[in-house]
Amino acid sequence: MTGSMYRLVYYSRNLIASDEALFASNVEEILAKSRFNNQRDEITGALLFNTGCFAQVLEGPLNKIEAAFERIQQDERHGDVSLLALDRIYQRSFPNWAMGFIGNSAIHAKRFAGVGSSSGFDPSRLSGHEIHSLLKALAIEEEAA
Ligand SMILES: Cc1cc2nc3c(=O)[nH]c(=O)nc-3n(C[C@H](O)[C@H](O)[C@H](O)COP(=O)(O)O)c2cc1C
Repeated sequence: MTGSMYRLVYYSRNLIASDEALFASNVEEILAKSRFNNQRDEITGALLFNTGCFAQVLEGPLNKIEAAFERIQQDERHGDVSLLALDRIYQRSFPNWAMGFIGNSAIHAKRFAGVGSSSGFDPSRLSGHEIHSLLKALAIEEEAA
């Protein structure tokens, strides 16, 4: 891949019902679809969720991440999709992840509490740059584990 690359960061409100089993199956479905499409489209990135929100980083060729973001915005499993950043990049932050997934395990919850509000992780309080840095740090931890 020799063309220029971009990174897109957004956050959204999670609209999936709070029933745990339903939530898990929806997330599995989103990840399977994302990994299949993103591999095809030379997109890498990471997805973070809690019961209230999603935050996602997509990196790759501009036309491909724009097309993916168009589809993602129309997805009824979330709403209030807010674009936080779209920047030219020279290196991928998630080279090995067609779509890495960072759930809300205890260690992450603890980390988010420090980054977001006192009541827990709230990506709407973070900038695109902060979300990118957070996901990158968590990805490095996951890969080392
Ligand atoms: C939070 C969230 C993140 C998603 N991330 C991606 C993604 O990274 N790549 C992707 O292709 N679809 C992603 N989707 C799914 C898209 O909304 C859409 O269902 C899918 O791209 C449709 O693909 P298809 O046209 O091949 O069926 C995501 C959906 C949600 C709710």
